[in-house]
Amino acid sequence: MNNAMAGVPVITLDGPTASGKGSVADGVAHALGFHVLDSGALYRLTALDAERLGIDLDDEAELAACALALSPTFTASRIFMDSRDVTDAIRAERIGNLASTIAPYPALRAALLDRQRAFRRAPGLVADGRDMGTVVFPDADLKVFLVADVAARADRRYRQLIERGAPADLDVIAHELCDRDARDANRTTSPLVAAADAMTIDSSALGLQDVIERVLELARAAGIGR
Ligand code: CDP
Repeated sequence: MNNAMAGVPVITLDGPTASGKGSVADGVAHALGFHVLDSGALYRLTALDAERLGIDLDDEAELAACALALSPTFTASRIFMDSRDVTDAIRAERIGNLASTIAPYPALRAALLDRQRAFRRAPGLVADGRDMGTVVFPDADLKVFLVADVAARADRRYRQLIERGAPADLDVIAHELCDRDARDANRTTSPLVAAADAMTIDSSALGLQDVIERVLELARAAGIGR
């Protein structure tokens, strides 16, 4: 990390699939005027490109090369890859499951590390993912671990898909969500685990604004954004 980055505050938001990290990250970043890193999008972009290129899912080196070669452009609401708008394509459940299948490869994770850290720019960053507080930004100013029970998360993901007009089956979603949790939590490299110094928020019975407010309170207490 260079010295310029060292002074830039970071809030990390880690947690399982559909725990609401993305929406909370956007709300907190908006309130503080901070940048956002949706690290899951980088894993999804890698999965999408690997599929397009027909890369063998067992070929860790090729998948890592694919991650390294990504050239996405993030605008306020869209993501482009080589001028193709891939915003909706990477949100497909198939791509999310593929991302979670290739995410355990250490070489692939290493290939995405610098790219993630480059998002740390003034006046600050809210980073969401699985290993933001443990691996990517271990020196973060505030670490939040966001959890919610399976029923609440399956319901949220179901509504998101329906809103987008995508096919959705609640039972299938709940089942895949548990599979993804197990894969993320049981892998050896950067498993989904709360950092020792993370604050856990259970959002099962909380609305989005309530969670955003709680994170902002914690941020204020940590002296961020003043
Ligand atoms: O929708 P969901 O929260 O599952 O997905 P996401 O945050 O967009 O991430 C897609 C997949 O990438 C996850 O299922 C994880 O397996 C993986 N991922 C990861 O391993 N590390 C991160 N920092 C972010 C995502």
